[in-house]
Amino acid sequence: MKIAVIGTGYVGLTTAVSLAMRGHEVTSVDIDQNKIEQLQRGILPIYEPDMDLALITLQQQGQLQFTSSLTGGAKDATVFIFCVGTPADETGKADLSYVFQGITELARTIPQGDGTRAIVLKSTCPIGTASRVADLLSNRTDLTVISNPEFLREGSALYDSLYPSRIVIGADSQAGYRFMEEVYAGFSSPKLFTTWNNAEMIKYASNAFLATKISFMNELSRLCDSANADVSVVAEGMGLDSRIGAEFLRAGIGYGGSCFPKDTHALVQTARDHQVELSIVQSVMEVNRTQPSWFLSKLPSLLGPLQGKKIALLGLSFKPNTDDIREAPSLSVIKSLREAGAIISAYDPAAMENMKRVFPDIQFENSAYNAIASADATILLTEWKELVDLDWRRVKQLMKSPVLLDGRNVWPMKSLAQMGFTYIGAGRRTS
Ligand code: UDX
Repeated sequence: MKIAVIGTGYVGLTTAVSLAMRGHEVTSVDIDQNKIEQLQRGILPIYEPDMDLALITLQQQGQLQFTSSLTGGAKDATVFIFCVGTPADETGKADLSYVFQGITELARTIPQGDGTRAIVLKSTCPIGTASRVADLLSNRTDLTVISNPEFLREGSALYDSLYPSRIVIGADSQAGYRFMEEVYAGFSSPKLFTTWNNAEMIKYASNAFLATKISFMNELSRLCDSANADVSVVAEGMGLDSRIGAEFLRAGIGYGGSCFPKDTHALVQTARDHQVELSIVQSVMEVNRTQPSWFLSKLPSLLGPLQGKKIALLGLSFKPNTDDIREAPSLSVIKSLREAGAIISAYDPAAMENMKRVFPDIQFENSAYNAIASADATILLTEWKELVDLDWRRVKQLMKSPVLLDGRNVWPMKSLAQMGFTYIGAGRRTS
C-alpha cells in the first residue's frame, strides 16, 4: 500500500519506519526542508534506539523515502497519516492548527475522482477532532476520515509501533475500517474498531490513567516517608494483584515527557468545555507539579543551607533511552537548586546538548564519576542503566559527603546503607 506519513517527530518517524518494515511503500513528509535533507542522509533528528539502522536500510531498499513536498512524492498515496504536533496552547488545550493546515493543504493538492483515500489522525487530538475534520472535508466524498491514536513510548518507540498493545481504529464507515485493516494487515495486535469519539477518548483516558497510577504512588510515597514504610515494597505487594497490575507503580520524582503532562492538561480543558470537572486528573497534575520540590526539601536537613554546596545530578532526560527533556523533572530541580545557590554538576548519556540550550551555565561533565567528584550530594533523576549500575566504591571515594537521593527508587538501598551512604528515595530511606 502507498502510504504518506505527515510529520517527522517521534510518532511520525516511528510510524513511517514500522509501516515500511511491514512491507508498505512509505513516503515521510515534513515541511522542514533541513530535517528532510538530514533524514535523506540517514541522520535522525531524535535519539531512539535501533531507528537509525532501520531508517538507512529501508531507504536503501526503496521502502521509505522522505520529501518536504506534499504535492510531490506523497500525492500518489492512498492513505495519509497525520502525525504533526498538537502542542498545548496557553490554556492547556491542544493546538490543532498544524492538523487543520495540513489537511486543508492536502485536500487542495489531491484531485477528486481518483479513487477513495483515507485521512488518518494519529496525532493526539481531542475528542471531536475527527468529526470536525470530516465537516471540513464534507464536499470531498473521496476522502474518508479515521482516528487511529498512537500509544508508543519514547525509548522503545520502534518496538511499540511494530508490536502495539492494541490498534484502535475510529471511523464512521466500513470503507474506513477496510483501509485500516489493509494498513495493519501485517500486525498481530488486537484491533478495536469503534467510533471517532471513542478512539480519541481512549488515547487521553489511557495516558491520564497511567499518569494517575504514578501520581497515586508519588503521593503515597510522601506518607510512606513520614510513616516509615517503603513505597517500593508497598508497590510490589499491590502489583501482585492482577486487577492492579505491577506496572507504572514506581514512585519517584514525577513523570515528564511530551505526553502525560500535555494530555492530562488537555483532557481537563476538554472536560471543562463540556462543563465537567475531572477532579482526579487535576489532583494527578498537582501531585506531579509538587513532587520535585517535596523530594528536594529533604536536602537542607542533610546538608544545611545549599548555598555553595556541590550537587551532582545524574540523568536529565525525562526517562532513559531518550534525549528528550520536555517537561523533565530535571528542569524544575535545576531551577530550584540554582535559586538556592547550589553549584550543579550534571551528566546524562544523551540529553546534555538539549539541556545546555536551556541552562548553558551549569557544569556539564562527560561521565557520572566526573559529575560526582567532590559532590556534597548526588541525585538520580533518570534511571539510565549506566547510572543505576554505578561502581559504588568509586562513588564513595569521589564524593565529598556520601549523600544519595534516588529520584527513581532504583538504587540498591540496603547495600548502599551498609557501605555507609545516606540513602534517601521517594518514600523509602535508610534509617
Ligand atoms: C507515554 C505512554 O506510556 C505512551 O503509551 C503514550 O503513547 C505516550 O506517553 P512516554 O511519555 O514515552 O509514553 O513515557 P513513559 O514510559 O510512559 O513514561 C512517562 C513518564 O512517567 C516518565 O517520566 C517516567 O519516568 C515516568 N514513570 C513511569 C514513573 O515515574 N513511574 C512509573 O512507574 C512509570
